[in-house]
Amino acid sequence: MKENSEASRRGFLKKLATTTAAVAAGSSLLAADKNTPSFYYLKKEYKPFGPNDQVNIALIGAGGMGTQDTIVALQVPGVKLVAVCDLYDGRLADAKKRWGNDIFTTKVYKEILNRKDIDAVIIATPDHWHQQISVDAMHAGKHVYCEKPMVHSVAEGPAVIKAQKETGKVFQVGSQGVSSLGNEKAHELLKSGAIGQLNYAEGFWARRAPIEVWQYPIPDDASPQTVDWETYVSNVQKRPYDSKRFFRWRNYTDYGTGMAGDLFVHLFSSLHFITDSMGPNKIYASGGLRYWNDGREVPDVLLGTFDYGKTAAHPAFNLSLRCNFVDGTSGTTYLKLVGSEGSMDITWDSVTLKRNKTIASDDPFYLEKLRKAGQSNSSRKQILPPEEITYNAEKGYLGGPYDHMNNWITAIRNNGKVTEDAVFGYRAAAPALLCNDSYYKNSPMFWDPENMKMIKKA
Ligand SMILES: NC(=O)c1ccc[n+]([C@@H]2O[C@H](COP(=O)([O-])OP(=O)(O)OC[C@H]3O[C@@H](n4cnc5c(N)ncnc54)[C@H](O)[C@@H]3O)[C@@H](O)[C@H]2O)c1
Repeated sequence: MKENSEASRRGFLKKLATTTAAVAAGSSLLAADKNTPSFYYLKKEYKPFGPNDQVNIALIGAGGMGTQDTIVALQVPGVKLVAVCDLYDGRLADAKKRWGNDIFTTKVYKEILNRKDIDAVIIATPDHWHQQISVDAMHAGKHVYCEKPMVHSVAEGPAVIKAQKETGKVFQVGSQGVSSLGNEKAHELLKSGAIGQLNYAEGFWARRAPIEVWQYPIPDDASPQTVDWETYVSNVQKRPYDSKRFFRWRNYTDYGTGMAGDLFVHLFSSLHFITDSMGPNKIYASGGLRYWNDGREVPDVLLGTFDYGKTAAHPAFNLSLRCNFVDGTSGTTYLKLVGSEGSMDITWDSVTLKRNKTIASDDPFYLEKLRKAGQSNSSRKQILPPEEITYNAEKGYLGGPYDHMNNWITAIRNNGKVTEDAVFGYRAAAPALLCNDSYYKNSPMFWDPENMKMIKKA
């Protein structure tokens, strides 16, 4: 791709002028350029819904995220919760306490799928149940919101894509950042040439507190009497009842997908949305178990490097991801895109755009040096410190999680489409899952993102 800095800068500035209608300029915090405000509010407008548009939902997997997803779904006007399924008595009792005795509860998800009064289900079980319940739900005529990662292994993806195609149901994966104002703005800025030619992206997650690194509390009454263990392990290796394997499932490869499936997948989803990418073609991971020797089968420090090939949507670029569960700084998540003319730091609620400026130098000492060296000033540009423009969601913004749920419900009502469908979800999950394969095999993995197939190298 030919670089043309001045043209892309002009293109970006022109685009900026035409898009400021969608974003309101706020107070100018850093006046880098007199004519360009350095702070904008991002706004979101929601369409009203009709009186006959009620959507009845059920929740399958009523733990932390399922409960959160349902709380958010019930904020969307016209959504009603009818039923909840979970394998642990305590979660079903909590669901009734939270949402009322009228909701139907069961430990058997097929009882949910058989009900005619349910239009759509949220699936928030551990990862090893996503594929089977999603496929069964769509074939039972239900729309599906399935938590990330869409599948537990690369081999499981095509069945979900097939079920979505065959049934025509609205299927959305739950990497909620994809629907956020921050991701939308980053997508628009990249397209407008704001950072020039993309060449590098990086992201990380830093955690430290035991609960953040998957040492969840185990309820006092946890036992084979209160937990349907037989069902839990019915699609993986059979083992005797183990509370840790049930309540701290992320630490075990039979049920969870490690740091990459849990966290990298969010960054892949956002990155692919922002860049319109289908994914990397080379994946390499390394890491280790450095601290949390609590019986977990997965590393607590993981690094991934990824090569993205040139496509019609973007130039070739490299991605570096890392996740550290023993990070003394803790609590940070980060996504940055770097281009030939600047960079963007992206969150769900904001984008900070930094753009370097090059000008002909007017420094007399520098000019004198050039003169002595026999060079003219016009051929030598000086890079100035970056100008910075911040785009922040306006106060009261309902957030990426709301927008993601709202997009799903709106698509159900309008027979419409969602961005993070089965193909998108698979393209985000596959490189994350291949990180695990790379880590355990100590070898790079090769992937054809367009055709969604593994490539075997001799
Ligand atoms: N999008 C996000 O930001 C986000 C955040 C956290 C978790 N998640 C995802 O949500 C899912 C759930 O994670 P969590 O943290 O809520 O876990 P959790 O352990 O808190 O909840 C899982 C629940 O599923 C139930 N369950 C297990 N197997 C079941 C089955 N076959 N049928 C019905 N219920 C079953 C368990 O009893 C438990 O209550 C995971 O896939 C995770 O990756 C997404």
